[in-house]
Amino acid sequence: METKSKSSKKSAKSTDESKLREFFIDELKDIYWAEQALYKALPKMAQAATSKKLAKAFEKHTMETEGQIATLEKAFELLGEKAEAKKCKAMEGLLKEADSVIEDTDEGTHTRDVGLIVSSQKAEHYEIASYGALTVIAENIGEPKVAKLLKKILDEEKKTDISLSIVAENKVNASAAKE
Ligand SMILES: [Fe+2]
Ligand SMILES: [Fe+2]
Repeated sequence: METKSKSSKKSAKSTDESKLREFFIDELKDIYWAEQALYKALPKMAQAATSKKLAKAFEKHTMETEGQIATLEKAFELLGEKAEAKKCKAMEGLLKEADSVIEDTDEGTHTRDVGLIVSSQKAEHYEIASYGALTVIAENIGEPKVAKLLKKILDEEKKTDISLSIVAENKVNASAAKE
């Protein structure tokens, strides 16, 4: 009797774990889509930027994003899963907002840069939330190597967020206030 209840408890746990694994893979597909969308959007944002420093920050993050896409592919491989992208509606919306910033502001203005920084920081924060949670889940499902890869991306996103704040605070916001 006791053995039976113990084994049924164990099987319930492993089902939960596989459900969590399934959820995790799904979320990984979501962020994989998000990174690919960012990889396409960032050069447009760099081109639209007025400040050279901001354009450079976007260009640098485009390169990093390319690396992050490759890192995610490595994570899928470690999990024995096919790297598949699943449309991330949140990132799609955030990037649409970035497009509207470009449409609604004048070329060559610092106000446009302020808008681009706000949009890109919203995207960075979405990524930070995603990778923070995914790193913990990877550890919980017994995938420490995957967790390590995700943590590496998380740290890059945090650094990008800080560098965007520095560009905003150093000059862009003040210049925009004078326009
Ligand atoms: Fe990213
Ligand atoms: Fe990012």
